[in-house]
Amino acid sequence: MIAKVSTPASVTIDFDSIKNLTSAETQAVDRLILEELSSDVVLINQIGHYIIGNGGKRLRPMLLLLAAKALGRVDDHHLILAAVIEFIHTATLLHDDVVDESALRRGKESANAVWGNAASVLVGDYLYSSAFEMMVRTDNMRVMAIMSKTTTAIAEGEVLQLLNCNNPETSEARYLEVIARKTAILFSTATRLAAVVSATDPAIEEALAVYGQQLGVAFQLIDDALDYKANSEELGKNLGDDLAEGKPTLPLIYAIQHGNEQQAKIVVDAIRQGSRDAFNDVYEVVKATNAIEYTEQCADRAAEKAIAALQCLPDSEYRHALEALARFSVQRSH
Ligand code: IPE
Ligand code: IPE
Ligand code: MG
Ligand code: MG
Repeated sequence: MIAKVSTPASVTIDFDSIKNLTSAETQAVDRLILEELSSDVVLINQIGHYIIGNGGKRLRPMLLLLAAKALGRVDDHHLILAAVIEFIHTATLLHDDVVDESALRRGKESANAVWGNAASVLVGDYLYSSAFEMMVRTDNMRVMAIMSKTTTAIAEGEVLQLLNCNNPETSEARYLEVIARKTAILFSTATRLAAVVSATDPAIEEALAVYGQQLGVAFQLIDDALDYKANSEELGKNLGDDLAEGKPTLPLIYAIQHGNEQQAKIVVDAIRQGSRDAFNDVYEVVKATNAIEYTEQCADRAAEKAIAALQCLPDSEYRHALEALARFSVQRSH
């Protein structure tokens, strides 16, 4: 029992004790994942195990499982869908590191750094396809409709983001549209599918979808803040990857709007150039304009909306754990 999971915003969240609430189910999900990774094509096994085998927070499957438990119980279809969601997430990471030219992932050299772009893209495609193959086992048309809409939206988000690259005029609204699609919708689908499989009342399904969406927004806002302020070792990714791609994330959008002319120019030029060279100067402007604090406040507001949405669920330690994970998404350092 973890009576202390329901916490005020300022209290440190014990991620491991939340993880323990679904440890048996998470092990079952990991077994499904490992079974699914076995292909007679050697490179698929190699890259699949490399990226999935020993890394990642498994946050999305954990959310699906906790939501299922908050609604009553976890059945086989929940386990399958938790594995499906992690596969899709991992496929997007393989593709994302190619697009972002990132060299570090989950504390190790990224797959593209080890095997090259072509192998990463193709194995990412394999993970996508095998996720859909697994999902068909649930024999549930609604699940398939929701999941295919989700992957379409993720792809749209990634392409929208590509269009924003090197464009310092990108607005906050346009940025929010990108993160809603590229990141938040997968979280929303994870928690929504728990309700779909449990065949709950539509209002509860909708509440869980809102929870996942808002948590996902908070999660990506913090990811974008961490790209400037984290400890790279703890994060398991290199800092400055966003700047190197000329990505106009919220810390930069805010810094441009609130800096003086000279400060704004430093950030605008760095976004246009898309290189790590100006990282220190940009970081100074981000700090001076309190752009990280602003980004964190936005994340905090999204997390509070996520928590508010959960209040129609019955009170349980699982609901409290979901509330704590919304706060973890804001307070996290990895
Ligand atoms: C990274 O997600 C991609 C984003 C949406 C920011 P996670 O931070 O959940 O990645 P892992 O699975 O723990 O490595
Ligand atoms: C999130 O974007 C990636 C996806 C949703 C596919 P980022 O590019 O910010 O993720 P990281 O920082 O590389 O994990
Ligand atoms: Mg990236
Ligand atoms: Mg990032």
